[in-house]
Amino acid sequence: MNTKNLFKRQSIYHGLATLCLAFVISNSYGQEGPAASLKETFKDDFLIGTAPNGRQLSGNNEAEQQLIISQFNAVTPENLMKSQSLQPEWGRYEFDQVDRFIAYASEHNMKVNGHTLIWHSQLPRFMRHMEDIDSVRQFFEGHIKTVAGRYDGKVDSWDVVNEALNEDGTLRNSVFLRALGDDYIVEAFKLAQEASPQSKLYYNDYNIEQPKKRAGALRIVKKIQEAGVRIDGVGIQGHWHLGRVPMEYIEQSIQAFAALGVDVMFTELDISVLPNAAGGNTAEISQTSGYSERLNPYPDGLPDSVQQALAQDYEDLFRLFLTYRDNVSRVTFWGAHDGQTWLNNWPIRRRTNYPLLFDRNLAPKPAFYRVIATKSDE
Ligand code: XIL
Repeated sequence: MNTKNLFKRQSIYHGLATLCLAFVISNSYGQEGPAASLKETFKDDFLIGTAPNGRQLSGNNEAEQQLIISQFNAVTPENLMKSQSLQPEWGRYEFDQVDRFIAYASEHNMKVNGHTLIWHSQLPRFMRHMEDIDSVRQFFEGHIKTVAGRYDGKVDSWDVVNEALNEDGTLRNSVFLRALGDDYIVEAFKLAQEASPQSKLYYNDYNIEQPKKRAGALRIVKKIQEAGVRIDGVGIQGHWHLGRVPMEYIEQSIQAFAALGVDVMFTELDISVLPNAAGGNTAEISQTSGYSERLNPYPDGLPDSVQQALAQDYEDLFRLFLTYRDNVSRVTFWGAHDGQTWLNNWPIRRRTNYPLLFDRNLAPKPAFYRVIATKSDE
């Protein structure tokens, strides 16, 4: 084929592709035109992540995979790298799914954040009632060395310790604190640093934008640094509620963590639009409550006023993230679309929540367009 024909053919393909894309993304929100890409839009600012579950990247859901690889350049496995999945029985590790996840991510140029090495939740069954000091230590050291060692450099980063703090900033009374004492977090980072010298090391928690808990997180970072151990960043989870996103505290937190010389990330971003039965602001996964219709007000769709309020919250957040782009290195959404967010089942099972930028049909929501627009408004 000569060059002219080749170009002609390419432009026909291009035209067709654009048409399909326009068709796919023309949706009930009245937005049309080729969909933008989050990762492209913010490529000079921060990574844009999502948290795929095991099925999403290994299954045959082509549309979901396309959404993930076209919109995101970072992935945190939602559950696959938690200790109960990786070490289901004492000393017996299951790596296959994680190996495949990492291979898929690397094939599609997505950075992997390993979530998480040391966490009091989603522990293997054999650890649930473990109080024997020697056994806890053995698990603690063995798990970090084995997992962080195997994936050194294959994951971009680790959430070395997850959720070690109480709301008042003191250390949570976990199996690790009881058996190993106050220094266990520093020890975890030291072990991770030795086993995984090529991956970045993070502390991750929810509500650490709140002043008291933030002070606790700052103490953790300082203590690690003073021990001469490496910590590269802090992840603020960002499980927030519509109309109650604590913007000022978030800004103060970015400044405070950045002042210690570590990266700041928003690692599990979602904004719940549903009432919270407990009334509390927590992401503690063991705190659940019972279903009632009153607590599930939008089973058939989100009213436009709520849709717009969600878009406003997301816009405000991304404006702030852009202001601090030198300090914010990644923004990860806890899920890809509303159909599969954990918030449909937590803290109350079988609700219909709408916390993300893509809806159940994988179409971009008004919040998506407002987030993209923050960049062109700059
Ligand atoms: C959640 C997952 O999304 C759910 O699928 C699982 O059932 C429970 O854990 N903080 C964290 C995440 O660090 O690992 C949690 O993920 C949400 C709260």
